[in-house]
Amino acid sequence: MALLILMPNKDGRALSEALQDIDPNLDIRIWPETGNKQDIEYVIVWNHPPGELTKYPNLKVIASFGAGVDHIFKDHDLPENVALTRLVDDSLSGQMCEYIAGVILNQRLRLTEYREYQAAGIWTPKEPRPGNNVCLLGLGSIGREVARYLANLNFAVSGWSQSPKDMDNIATFQGPEALGKAVADADYIVCLLPLTPKTTNILDNTLFNKMKKGAYLINAGRGGHLNEDDLMDALYQQQLSGACLDVFKVEPLPEDHPFWRHPKIYLTPHCASVTHLDKAAAQLHENYLNMKNSRPLLNRVDPTKGY
Ligand code: GLV
Repeated sequence: MALLILMPNKDGRALSEALQDIDPNLDIRIWPETGNKQDIEYVIVWNHPPGELTKYPNLKVIASFGAGVDHIFKDHDLPENVALTRLVDDSLSGQMCEYIAGVILNQRLRLTEYREYQAAGIWTPKEPRPGNNVCLLGLGSIGREVARYLANLNFAVSGWSQSPKDMDNIATFQGPEALGKAVADADYIVCLLPLTPKTTNILDNTLFNKMKKGAYLINAGRGGHLNEDDLMDALYQQQLSGACLDVFKVEPLPEDHPFWRHPKIYLTPHCASVTHLDKAAAQLHENYLNMKNSRPLLNRVDPTKGY
């Protein structure tokens, strides 16, 4: 019984060492040095080559090295009857809470604007930007924590999700027909949705036109949620006052992409919530033992929903 690390663009050796620290007896292989493929029962993946996972006849679990699993589902040649899991941990949600609050407070307190004034030697005190309503798109394990965090900072928070969610002090909306209503009063719209066929390009002109004029968009879900041309258009038309983007259709963002130099776009390099190696290793190891001992797996993904 062996565990394979299949993360072509990440440091597989560091994860292997973190797992060996927990259990020195683990049989760990790092792709492409798989050894006998029949030995592999558990694979940890991040952006694996499509079709690769069908080559392991005894595979039981595919574990995402992150909260998102869209990188797995973009492979249309996945083995059948293999369980899928993802990472859920409080460091992922904690980082996201701070990131979203930081972006909103930066915008509201005009900190970036003052930095520009400083560079130009301008002394012009202003009122903070008005508007206290935040709408979160996505109330999964991370979205719920962000909603609570912002409510504790006295923002008026609402949330939208595909399936009904009940939360104290947070107005919740569900289903496609309630999406327009969910965003209508928001000053800040934050996308933390999973990327699925239903949510691809959900941030488009149809939705922007349902937002308050001058709303501010934050996308820390996936680049595939955003229709990039529609965002450029909504910024030009001043339907949106600005956007902060952490995720992009192509990452790293190509050098010549217009977002780099757009005055109303603030961008960060997919760093809002980063998998913590030791915490990830502990959770992956726990699930490996669950598999080995035929116990229920933690954080299973429902392939019919895609999250
Ligand atoms: C990061 O984007 C993740 O999915 O963990």
